[in-house]
Amino acid sequence: MRQIIYTSVTTNPSGRAEDESVAILRQASLRNGLDGITGLLYTQGSEFLQALEGPNDSIADLLLSLTSDPRHRDLRILIDRETEDREFGDWMMVHRERRESVDDFDRRLHGLLLGVSRETAEYFRALVPA
Ligand SMILES: Cc1cc2nc3c(=O)[nH]c(=O)nc-3n(C[C@H](O)[C@H](O)[C@H](O)COP(=O)(O)O)c2cc1C
Repeated sequence: MRQIIYTSVTTNPSGRAEDESVAILRQASLRNGLDGITGLLYTQGSEFLQALEGPNDSIADLLLSLTSDPRHRDLRILIDRETEDREFGDWMMVHRERRESVDDFDRRLHGLLLGVSRETAEYFRALVPA
């Protein structure tokens, strides 16, 4: 199983990554289920932070789509490694729900991060306020 964590920056003129996330999650829920990909999509300001886990071939294919997706730029891979198990659980794609406050989401995210390796958690902690 391959695990990728990357950051990128929205190209939406609003400057808010959040504005793309509904459309992205709709696409992700169609494709990720079929390809065995799970993970987490976090937006903060203009930045996306995404963790993806799944079979090597599925991740490689998705990365090709992602690198040519005009909705974001400056895709920077922070972690790219083999893992035995899914660190982010069975989430199709975790995201803050509109009705959920930022605090509630951060609490949920911190809960999730208890299950990931220290290296991985550190990348998230740098982005997500403690
Ligand atoms: C920040 C970001 C995250 C994305 N995450 C996913 C994802 O988890 N799964 C997915 O299928 N598509 C995701 N997409 C969309 C893909 O880039 C691509 O548009 C979609 O998979 C359709 O690919 P295709 O046009 O090559 O068929 C994401 C796009 C962006 C900008």
